[in-house]
Amino acid sequence: MIALGADHGGFLLKEAIKKYLDQKGISYYDFGTNSSESVDYAPFGEKVAYAVANGEAEKGILCCGTGIGISIAANKIKGIRAAVVTNAFCAKATREHNDANILCMGGRVITEQEAVEFTDIFLNTAFEGGRHQRRIDQIATIEQSSLSD
Ligand code: RB5
Repeated sequence: MIALGADHGGFLLKEAIKKYLDQKGISYYDFGTNSSESVDYAPFGEKVAYAVANGEAEKGILCCGTGIGISIAANKIKGIRAAVVTNAFCAKATREHNDANILCMGGRVITEQEAVEFTDIFLNTAFEGGRHQRRIDQIATIEQSSLSD
């Protein structure tokens, strides 16, 4: 199960990604938004992040104008590693090295075709573990010691 979310700036990327997921037979839950009408991105980042953090979704995909604002919102939720990706190398590396669990992209930055390409890479690349697990653990320790709760 993949959790999807977007604001108006990422709406069209999300729709293109849904077509790809339909073609691949991958199930998803779409938290919206459902049009190009202006909406705030933070609540969509929050909903998708909670779905991933709670285990309702294995991974999430979030789109806004740049991918940045919605990634910042998602990364406020414990256990979330949301990565903004603008090229295929980063889509692969953020799975292999960061074990990213949410892919973030910008509708004003990349094309729909690129969004589908990066989604395919993201969903089909495994975490490498090893030295990268130690680094992920360090991030989790920082998260535990933060002042956010
Ligand atoms: C909305 O205009 C825009 O700010 C938003 O989609 C995103 O790019 C924020 O980071």
